[in-house]
Amino acid sequence: MKGIILAGGSATRLRPLTWVTSKQLLPVYNKPMIYYPIETLVKAGITEILVIVSPEFAGHYLNLLGTGKDFGAHFSFVVQPNPGGLAEAFLYGKDFVDDDDVTLILGDNIFDHDFSSQIKNFKGGAKIYAKEVHDPERYGVVEFDEKMNALSIEEKPKKPKSNYAVVGLYTYDNRVVKFVENQKRSERGELEITDLNNIYLKKGELSVDVIEGIWEDAGTFDSLLRAANLMAEKAKKKGK
Ligand code: TTP
Repeated sequence: MKGIILAGGSATRLRPLTWVTSKQLLPVYNKPMIYYPIETLVKAGITEILVIVSPEFAGHYLNLLGTGKDFGAHFSFVVQPNPGGLAEAFLYGKDFVDDDDVTLILGDNIFDHDFSSQIKNFKGGAKIYAKEVHDPERYGVVEFDEKMNALSIEEKPKKPKSNYAVVGLYTYDNRVVKFVENQKRSERGELEITDLNNIYLKKGELSVDVIEGIWEDAGTFDSLLRAANLMAEKAKKKGK
């Protein structure tokens, strides 16, 4: 299993902070944000990692992260010239993925869930992860059956079919590259992750795992502050 971290994007919601550097390098308590998704992958046993970055801040990432040795990992880097959607990760990551399965994590998503058993037991198709929330209409919402097969995914639905939000970590078998290569862009010109997930769903090959614990998408001022406070609490509990 290989890993891709999406650390490009335009981060308009965090301006003016993101005029000077990338969102995923901003501090979350005592670490740059991207340390958290790196640690999530490494904890799950994924050490071969591609970091996808935007052209303006590519050098910042190289300077900070280097080879990956300090994390017990091996990093590769690729530049995404324009933010063309989350599923573009598999176009820019095609050579990196090669013949392997792959887990994508969004560079601004912070978890304390341990994904290692899910990654170890992955047997093909695609797996998305969901967390119960009280305000599902703000998220991508997944409905699933008792066997944990996905039945529908809807983006910010007015009438959500469940209380489960799709979080920013996704596991795919090797067919993902082919599927994305044949995918059409949405009206906003992006390769949408939901369209990709729907390809697997229509084949009956999209399963769902419910995760517990902290999940923050640190892309707004409020969620960034919340993430920092949660991580501060966690670090102090651990005595670090
Ligand atoms: P978003 O938070 O949806 O987008 P953004 O980071 O550009 O922020 P804003 O909406 O404030 O303008 O992106 C989710 C994550 O995926 C984030 O880590 C950035 C990354 N991303 C890419 O790397 N490439 C892309 O093409 C897109 C759309 C996002």
